[in-house]
Amino acid sequence: MSTNSGDLTGRKAKHIEICTDQAYDPEGGSALFEHLSFRHRALPEIAWDEVKTETDFLQRRIAFPLFISCMTGGSDSSYAINKDLARAAQALNIPVGMGSIRILFRKPEAFGDFHLRPLAPDVPIFSNLGAQQLIEERLRDNYKTLHQWNQKLEVDAQVVHLNPGQELYQDDGDRDFRGIKDTLEEFIARSPLPVIVKETGFGMAPDEVDWLLKVGASYVDLAGSGGTNWLTVEAYRLDAAGYESGEALREWGWPTALLMAAVGHRKGRVLASGGLRSGLDLAKALALGAKAGGFALPVIRAAKQGGSEAVVTLMNGYIRALKTTMMLTSCRTLSDLRKTSLDTTRDFESRLKKLNRG
Ligand SMILES: Cc1cc2nc3c(=O)[nH]c(=O)nc-3n(C[C@H](O)[C@H](O)[C@H](O)COP(=O)(O)O)c2cc1C
Repeated sequence: MSTNSGDLTGRKAKHIEICTDQAYDPEGGSALFEHLSFRHRALPEIAWDEVKTETDFLQRRIAFPLFISCMTGGSDSSYAINKDLARAAQALNIPVGMGSIRILFRKPEAFGDFHLRPLAPDVPIFSNLGAQQLIEERLRDNYKTLHQWNQKLEVDAQVVHLNPGQELYQDDGDRDFRGIKDTLEEFIARSPLPVIVKETGFGMAPDEVDWLLKVGASYVDLAGSGGTNWLTVEAYRLDAAGYESGEALREWGWPTALLMAAVGHRKGRVLASGGLRSGLDLAKALALGAKAGGFALPVIRAAKQGGSEAVVTLMNGYIRALKTTMMLTSCRTLSDLRKTSLDTTRDFESRLKKLNRG
């Protein structure tokens, strides 16, 4: 694909505009967290300060099991937003991702947009690239330039995103997804950084999660459905007929809570994101086995409205609800939370049974 840096910058800026313009709803369906509930305890016998949320992640100690999902970089508006996200992550001591660094390969002067380390010296930072671009980078120089950029960016992990649905609704998007599995397997084996593979809002089939973990991904970030739907965001940029056809796929994908319930026991190597919209959703994802939960759309909206302070306020709200949930279920630690049973609706149970049957 021959998209130039001007097209990429313009598209990135348009994405932020669409996602933060309150007149358009970029979300689709439900992540199904409302089908799960905790059992309240009126006698928790725990003090607030005893509730421990710290955890080890990518060789750093983070304060809370939540992260800012990969989003921006490479346009004027995203430059300011990335800085606010990094400042907020540092203030909270939580991980932060950046948007695809693809633009750096054509426009090296955008480096400052992505160099978050000076603003977030202590937290895990994720670099980001599409799986499709990995194929280009392998052909170009066997990932040499990519590894050099990551070194300069001082990141802790390489996130690789999968987004076939989004590409198909870009007029100049990729149409050929052959060879990605081989490339991913080879890239993961040779990467000097831990690799996190994520979707971008449609999730992955359970056997795909298993395969990614088998070939050595350090974590798989589900990025399931129920939150931002990238196909409809792209469809919004098309003509009326294109837009209408995208609407039919608004609820496409694996709802995050359902998928998490199916793959949650994969030894703490699954991250839950896509449609998480509260601290209670986060607590449920953790109870299902997630190592941590990620948030994208609400965070970028907060950053656009009130900068890093608004992001910190939003995240503190999530953290308060998480700790409250832990107290009201008598959980002192995240491992206690992972042992807590969740009640599920009959509908959820039957969907999960079907999913597990394959
Ligand atoms: C404005 C915006 C830009 C995004 N850009 C990227 C990106 O460059 N790379 C990526 O892997 N995911 C990107 N995403 C997808 C998110 O990381 C996330 O997987 C998806 O939005 C679902 O999470 P949510 O429902 O909390 O928004 C972007 C999301 C938003 C809202």
